[in-house]
Amino acid sequence: MNFFRKLLIATLFFGVVLFSLTSFQENTFRDNDQSWTTKTRTPDPNQNNCLICHTGISHIRDPQSGMMQQIYETAEKAGFSNNECIVCHGGNPLAIEAEKAHDGTIKYFTKNEGPKNFYPDPGSPWINENSCGQCHTEQVSAQMTSLMFTEAGKI
Ligand code: HEC
Ligand code: HEC
Ligand code: HEC
Repeated sequence: MNFFRKLLIATLFFGVVLFSLTSFQENTFRDNDQSWTTKTRTPDPNQNNCLICHTGISHIRDPQSGMMQQIYETAEKAGFSNNECIVCHGGNPLAIEAEKAHDGTIKYFTKNEGPKNFYPDPGSPWINENSCGQCHTEQVSAQMTSLMFTEAGKI
């Protein structure tokens, strides 16, 4: 084999190794916190049962924001890609009656991070480790000792 043939084979070999390494990285990348940057999710409101009744409710944040994109991703992982509401509120995304919709949480969230019940106010400090705290761990753990919570020093 002449030198150029060896070079060609070596180049091809390293090309394959490099390619598999980069595609492997791409796969692991999807699981970390930045994965929303790789795909913009736009849930279909017509496939969200909560919106049958809560039609016209405003987005809690810009759908293009990093926060909403992560919430859409969590909904997708939970198996309900068109229902972001349940990521903060829990409830039953399959129900079309109010009492059933406002009851419990999906199985996925009982086994993974997420609402453990239906939460009328996901921001409540008593339960927000399961709502906002899925992502805002630090804020949620700091809240109980914060000045706004204890009002320490207030006369
Ligand atoms: C069949 C209609 C219907 C469906 C479906 C429905 N809701 Fe409601 N929802 C209502 C009505 C009516 C109210 C106001 C009266 C009440 O509190 O029950 C309400 C109230 C709420 C409230 C405020 C509760 C409070 O006590 O302040 C939240 C939060 C809420 N719904 C979230 C959801 C979520 C999340 C879903 C989907 C999983 C959903 N709803 C599905 C009709 C519905
Ligand atoms: C980022 C988390 C989050 C998501 C996602 C979310 N909510 Fe909420 N929602 C809240 C919080 C926090 C409150 C309480 C706000 C307050 O008390 O002022 C609330 C309040 C509400 C209320 C009561 C409003 C009122 O005026 O009393 C309804 C109804 C509601 N959400 C429905 C929904 C529906 C339907 C969806 C999906 C389309 C949804 N929410 C998505 C966090 C969320
Ligand atoms: C699935 C993950 C996730 C959940 C759940 C979530 N957030 Fe966020 N939030 C983010 C990310 C990511 C950012 C930063 C990107 C952005 O600003 O959108 C953020 C940003 C914010 C900010 C900063 C806004 C700004 O303008 O700097 C506030 C305030 C906030 N979140 C409050 C909440 C509250 C309150 C809840 C619960 C009711 C909540 N978040 C639930 C992921 C989440």
